[in-house]
Amino acid sequence: MSAKTAKLVIGSKEIELPIHSPTVGPDVIDIGQLYAKGDVFTYDPGFTSTAACDSTITFIDGEKGVLLHRGYPIEQLSSKSHFLEVCYLLLYGGLPNAVELDDFETRVTRHTMLHEQMLNFFRGFRRDAHPMAVMTGVVGAMSAFYHDSIDVNDPWQREVASIRLIAKMPTIAAMAFKYNTGQPFVYPRNDLDYASNFLRMCFAVPAEDYQVNPILSRAMDRIFTLHADHEQNASTSTVRLASSSGANPFACIAAGIACLWGPAHGGANQACLEMLEEIGTVDKIPEFIARAKDKNDPFRLMGFGHRVYKNFDPRAIVLKESADEVLELLGVESNSILQVAKKLEETALADDYFIEKKLFPNVDFYSGIILEAMGFPTSMFTPIFAVSRTIGWVSQWKEMVTDPKMKIGRPRQLYVGETKRDYVNIEDR
Ligand code: SDX
Repeated sequence: MSAKTAKLVIGSKEIELPIHSPTVGPDVIDIGQLYAKGDVFTYDPGFTSTAACDSTITFIDGEKGVLLHRGYPIEQLSSKSHFLEVCYLLLYGGLPNAVELDDFETRVTRHTMLHEQMLNFFRGFRRDAHPMAVMTGVVGAMSAFYHDSIDVNDPWQREVASIRLIAKMPTIAAMAFKYNTGQPFVYPRNDLDYASNFLRMCFAVPAEDYQVNPILSRAMDRIFTLHADHEQNASTSTVRLASSSGANPFACIAAGIACLWGPAHGGANQACLEMLEEIGTVDKIPEFIARAKDKNDPFRLMGFGHRVYKNFDPRAIVLKESADEVLELLGVESNSILQVAKKLEETALADDYFIEKKLFPNVDFYSGIILEAMGFPTSMFTPIFAVSRTIGWVSQWKEMVTDPKMKIGRPRQLYVGETKRDYVNIEDR
């Protein structure tokens, strides 16, 4: 069968462009030669119709609410797997057998401690520094401490950097939290699983023993699993673009953390809970719905809408179930925030504006409710998202730096500025 092509007519020119087909999803038109052949650029601010790379890691079908990690549906992974196994799947491409999983978990466990001198970085921040500012700084500084794993062309160094990042992010996030609270840092323990270790580093104090609640560690692990990777979202695209210059992995992941912090992206979970708290009671919901619909009001419903999902976010469905389960098991009586959230969702989903614009709860809508019930302040919501998304960033970074087709990312522009003009001396202005 002859290769598929697209014909583009520009003035008197007819340009033929190759079409590539995926294993699943839409075809893509390869425009790599468009400028050379047609002397034109494409124009797509926000990349609403642009594929920036090919990838084998995660597939999303926005219309059907499908999310696959290496082909496995997120619903099955969140109920049958656990976060470190999902990390292995994303990083290496397949589910591990028992020996492979045990080896991977042991390697991650043995890298959870930070270089002791790195603790000085935390002390350089104000006590009220946002934990995302601390994480951006400390992760970027890792390239100054782990010189033996910054050469992206060395497979062994890539592997060590990957394990270090997966292992140390919970420690860094927990230390940022402890620094905010004025409590002493709690070091990781090798006899705890990933989620339990993180909870203990966040909530244990030297004055008494801390027993991890298995219900909380299971909920924590599920939140990590649901946020692990999401195709070419803004922060992952940031990591890929930074990686394309050959920058070291720690610098690239620090760039991803900075991008995730934005309220339109990973910062939405914090913004969403603050919005629910501002709404306060269900009788205030109509007022906020009206504001979200008002073109003259910049207010948007945080936790609603998505660039890709146009019917539902499968992660939000799982998190909504978890929210009920965790709050009930924690004995959090009729959590008013949860009641507001459920009524807000019900109201918005019945409103023509949200139906027409295909806006519904995304992954950030329910995660904050669970995290708050678990005892985290809103400032820790996005750091927890960053801990989880590190495996997605690292897996996509590794896929890119090992791709023979990789070249530095360098978009062009539609220039609408001044044409050439001569300098005017100040006395003549
Ligand atoms: C994440 O990409 C990913 O995969 C991200 C993520 C991941 O796992 O990495 O899934 C994580 O970032 C989830 C999204 C979290 N952000 C929020 O919850 C913030 C609130 N949502 C919006 O900012 C918005 O919906 C976005 C940013 C999520 C998506 O924006 P788009 O795709 O660029 O859509 P848009 O801004 O062009 O909006 C389309 C229309 C607009 O109206 P019109 O100009 O067409 O009249 O819908 C309106 C918007 O005003 N709209 C909203 C709205 N979101 C969009 N109106 C009210 N409330 C909202 N939340």
